[in-house]
Amino acid sequence: MDSLLNTAIEAARKAGALLKEGFRSQFSVSSKSRYHDLVTEYDLRSETIIMEHIRTHFPTHAILSEESGNHTASSDITWVIDPLDGTVNFAHGIPLFCISIAAIQNNTILFGVIYAPMTDELFIAEKGKGAYYNGEKIHVTDVSTLTKSFLVTGFPYSVSDNPGHCIEHFSHLVSMGIPVRRLGSAALDLAYVASGRFDGFWEILLQPWDMAAGSLLVSEAGGIVIDYHGKQLNMDTSSSIIAGNSVLAHEILIELQKINHVYQSGDFHE
Ligand code: IPD
Ligand code: CA
Ligand code: CA
Repeated sequence: MDSLLNTAIEAARKAGALLKEGFRSQFSVSSKSRYHDLVTEYDLRSETIIMEHIRTHFPTHAILSEESGNHTASSDITWVIDPLDGTVNFAHGIPLFCISIAAIQNNTILFGVIYAPMTDELFIAEKGKGAYYNGEKIHVTDVSTLTKSFLVTGFPYSVSDNPGHCIEHFSHLVSMGIPVRRLGSAALDLAYVASGRFDGFWEILLQPWDMAAGSLLVSEAGGIVIDYHGKQLNMDTSSSIIAGNSVLAHEILIELQKINHVYQSGDFHE
């Protein structure tokens, strides 16, 4: 396991150096599913560096990476990679982005690494061994009253099609007087929950590469991650997610379900 984790850390640091070098430089940007769903040349270059590093050390492992998809292989270990989480921030010169790398075996996340190169912040978690920020053990907060909490969320690129009434969820929690941030990097949101900067996080329609590493960070930091039905997440597919300490995560779930109840007319879906 050590060598898996070390390989992930080395890959994240290598890719981080590249992103730092490219930040606010001239680079090509294009749109994917929507005008604002961007991919820059640095997403692709970061992905190449990470995949090459992994393949050098573990040539038989499978890889699922955001920009190039699924690379199957003989091993039952799959690396799940977001080579640049927070692409819209990166493309606009905002230094809030990271690299997220995890490995999964039989539905178990073995480790998670999230590296934010502009602040040189490394978050790591290993299954059963706790979560760490730059070498120091981290914990989720114990804030259990929703109205006393500080939260973070995000919206999918398809928000204008109204996926899952996410704006109604947001407006409901904000109208309770809760300060809610939207940073633009789901992996960082989860790392910040794991390290106690935020008390909780929720977002609909995240992909495995957005949440695999961050989910393990939160659970190894003493918190939980559940979907909008209160169930455990499945890392094989996109999912809604709520993260925080167990009490607070369930408090968030109750509020989201109140809104879902209003839209029970049949048009609520994830
Ligand atoms: C996005 C970010 C954002 C979240 C989106 C993700 P990307 O990932 O994590 O915070 O709201 O749902 O798709 O495109 O920057 O890798
Ligand atoms: Ca992402
Ligand atoms: Ca990405």
